[in-house]
Amino acid sequence: MKNKIIIPLDVDSEEKAISLVKELKDHVGAFKVGLELINNVGFTIFEKIKEAGAEKIFYDCKFCDIPNTVKGASVGATKNNVWMFNVHALGGFDMMKAAKEGALQTAEKLGIETPLVIAVTILTSINGETLKSIGVERDVKTEVASLAKLAKEAGLDGVVSSPQEISVIREACGKDFVIVTPGVRPKGSDIGDQKRIMTPLKAVREGSDYIVVGRPITKAENPALAADNLFNE
Ligand code: C5P
Repeated sequence: MKNKIIIPLDVDSEEKAISLVKELKDHVGAFKVGLELINNVGFTIFEKIKEAGAEKIFYDCKFCDIPNTVKGASVGATKNNVWMFNVHALGGFDMMKAAKEGALQTAEKLGIETPLVIAVTILTSINGETLKSIGVERDVKTEVASLAKLAKEAGLDGVVSSPQEISVIREACGKDFVIVTPGVRPKGSDIGDQKRIMTPLKAVREGSDYIVVGRPITKAENPALAADNLFNE
């Protein structure tokens, strides 16, 4: 069960990231390197956190650009030997296909395992109202299911979504499609900027393959204890 927990290293220094990895490595399954960490510290962070004991790294790069550019970026992401990285499904079918091609070709060339390439459907900080404000008339569930189906058709391994959409994604994409769910909040914890949330227990029961839980653990006085409490739940 602990392998299902992914901790986002949403901090602005190498020191803070390494301290979290050392404290949490035996309590969780993987660590996520996202935009805050990579833009503050740089790409050397991958090696540094591996040395600190992070075995599985999810690079939350959220690529969204024209297919040729995303393919090139995916080649670079794969060279970091990460377990998984992502793109935005809103970049479309050709872009997602190009990302997967970049990963496959590079992994083959380097003789390393191909990273899982997954697509962010609709950010968990977005609700129906926000969707309407950017001109999307379909409701969140319909939009997420449709983007997940497109990601699968483009050859991707899974998606990132809120746990609230797990059942519609499973219906559209089947049981082997990886579903990673942020927007997870243990009972009583601060929601922050997340909008489509669920408790960890319910998210796992719904069929989430991996839950991403950040601030309730990383900002806790004792992150390892907070991770253990989550695991026990
Ligand atoms: O602190 P919190 O648990 O809200 O962190 C959630 C993490 O998951 C953040 O690193 C955020 O960038 C990421 N994420 C998300 N929603 C998505 C995709 C990624 O919250 N749809």
